[in-house]
Amino acid sequence: MAGQNGDLQGDVFYPPEDIVKNANARDWEQMQKEAAEDLEGFWEAEAEKYHWFDKWDQVLDDSNPPFYKWFTGGKTNLAYNCLDVHVQNSNRNKLALIWEGENDEQRTFSYYALYRETCKFANILKALGVEKGDRVTLYMGPVPETVMAMLACARIGAIHSVVFAGFSKEALRERVEDSQSKVVITQDAGYRNGSEVPLKQTVDKAIRHVGFVENVLVVQRTGSEVHMEQGRDHWYHELAEMPIASRDCEAEEMDAEDMLYLLYTSGTTGKPKAIVHTTGGYMVGIATTLRYVFDLKPSDRFWCAADPGWVTGHSYIVYGPLLLGATNFMYEGAPTYPYPNRWWKMIEYYGLNILYTAPTAVRGLMKFGRAWPDRHNLSSLRLLGSVGEPINPEAWKWYHEVIGYEQCPIMDTWWQTETGGFMITPVPSMPLKPGSATKPFFGVEADVVNDDGESVDPDEEGYLVIKKPWPGMLRTLYKDEERFKETYWSKFEDQGWYLAGDSAKKDEDGYFWVIGRIDDVLNVAGHRLGTAEVESALVSHDAVAEAAVIGVPDDVKGNAIHAYVILTVGYEGTEDLTDELVEHVADELGPIAKPANVEAVDSLPKTRSGKIMRRVLRAKAMGEEVGDLSTMAD
Ligand code: WTA
Repeated sequence: MAGQNGDLQGDVFYPPEDIVKNANARDWEQMQKEAAEDLEGFWEAEAEKYHWFDKWDQVLDDSNPPFYKWFTGGKTNLAYNCLDVHVQNSNRNKLALIWEGENDEQRTFSYYALYRETCKFANILKALGVEKGDRVTLYMGPVPETVMAMLACARIGAIHSVVFAGFSKEALRERVEDSQSKVVITQDAGYRNGSEVPLKQTVDKAIRHVGFVENVLVVQRTGSEVHMEQGRDHWYHELAEMPIASRDCEAEEMDAEDMLYLLYTSGTTGKPKAIVHTTGGYMVGIATTLRYVFDLKPSDRFWCAADPGWVTGHSYIVYGPLLLGATNFMYEGAPTYPYPNRWWKMIEYYGLNILYTAPTAVRGLMKFGRAWPDRHNLSSLRLLGSVGEPINPEAWKWYHEVIGYEQCPIMDTWWQTETGGFMITPVPSMPLKPGSATKPFFGVEADVVNDDGESVDPDEEGYLVIKKPWPGMLRTLYKDEERFKETYWSKFEDQGWYLAGDSAKKDEDGYFWVIGRIDDVLNVAGHRLGTAEVESALVSHDAVAEAAVIGVPDDVKGNAIHAYVILTVGYEGTEDLTDELVEHVADELGPIAKPANVEAVDSLPKTRSGKIMRRVLRAKAMGEEVGDLSTMAD
């Protein structure tokens, strides 16, 4: 492929010359070749760029697959690399974090300030009895204290488990219990879409019967009234005034393979999986991907518009940009509050250089028309990014033209909670094809294969697999090694490949086109939800005997949830009841899981072995032919 700079020719976009010239990865073909030839050498050279208390003995220990280890024997600390390293160099007084609240409040932190605040936070956690290896659950929105709390845990070696603040009390309870967190950190409330989200209240309900939670630390955000239980609940700002909250806290020397965090994500069964990420490899993995994919430099103002409660927020709000000494921008609220120009206004005002978001957000803003972004000067933007689902051509074009002024390459990054960081992704110097996440990152060996593990022909669909270990990979599922092996490593056990759970195609240029999940996982507005989770929420209501949930295409959200329910005898499928069921799911799981539609049916299509045939339901919902029914029970 050869073409001119900055042009979209047919279906290929060629990056502008100055972007290529200044890219951290100028010669991506050469880098890809070198990393493929010497995988360990590539990652070792990257690891050298960070601070280690002790160097590793071995880059990759693959003696016990699939339990790979990276940088074994190495000792480091992520918070130390995110903060102390910069405090000791010329970044000390530069902005680490710019934050804007939905209510227009602004807060900024230099690297030194963030270091100080994180140390205070860490000392408070220690005073509450948190020790290395303890789990701490965070139920917080996008506020600076979330960043500090995560870094504070990393600093003292506690394992954070952040639960997205859109999850309900039930989902929170399950995650607090599973992780056995002695401490929960939350806010009084958060702002979203002009109203207050009562976070502390949800924590109270979630842990009412959870005996082992000893302390709840409450950050004051809105000033709304909350119940404080004597002995258990503490205001953060009160403890921060006490002598225990000193401004210095030594960073724990963590083994490269010590656990850094747990993050729950949806799978095929009702019970969410706790993905385990460790310290050294994860640090090197996310910093390296960010360095080359978003060309991140200390002079950049980077905005990853995800929520810190998802992996994107962990890797590319909290840890990644700080490791590279950039300035992070973080926004608390809804993109359309009070008007649909909120994002564009902030990009102009703060002069942000990179915007990384999800196709669902692009589509959601596109809906309001270009007049909103056109009111603002967005020329500070140099690069754009996309994550969470394939980006459809219309959204890509709008993002490219209206937001990127046809000059910003769009980094379409394919990855997962499990992978820790970008896996299939362009770098800015690469020609792009709208809708394709392009090629595997340096050192990543990905392929599309059939059931027998053979590479499929160009443009044929198959399983997306990763053939070699990478440093940021999940190490296991918390307390569930069997499920870890079964979920990711059993399909291609002989070959030792990682099964991503997505289907994909590869074209004749070797570009990857990710199609979607092959398992029963839905992608609703960029969030992963298991059909089984929604189904168990439905059947936990007295009126529901059985439920089946499918995703149907939705213009903005990617998938909308349609639920089919068989009602318990004595109940009737009235509008009131279906409304009640929708609210019930929101209560059990969270508002993101609300079905768009609940339909009462007499029976559900099942295979003879009792598996629900979702494809039949999907065809029905879409008014399409149902196809082959030979395996159906009746
Ligand atoms: C999907 C989010 C197409 C995919 C970081 C994957 C994508 C799941 C892309 C992981 C992309 C993510 N193109 N599909 N660029 N990025 N996905 O764990 O199905 O929340 O398996 O991680 O999102 O979702 P998760």
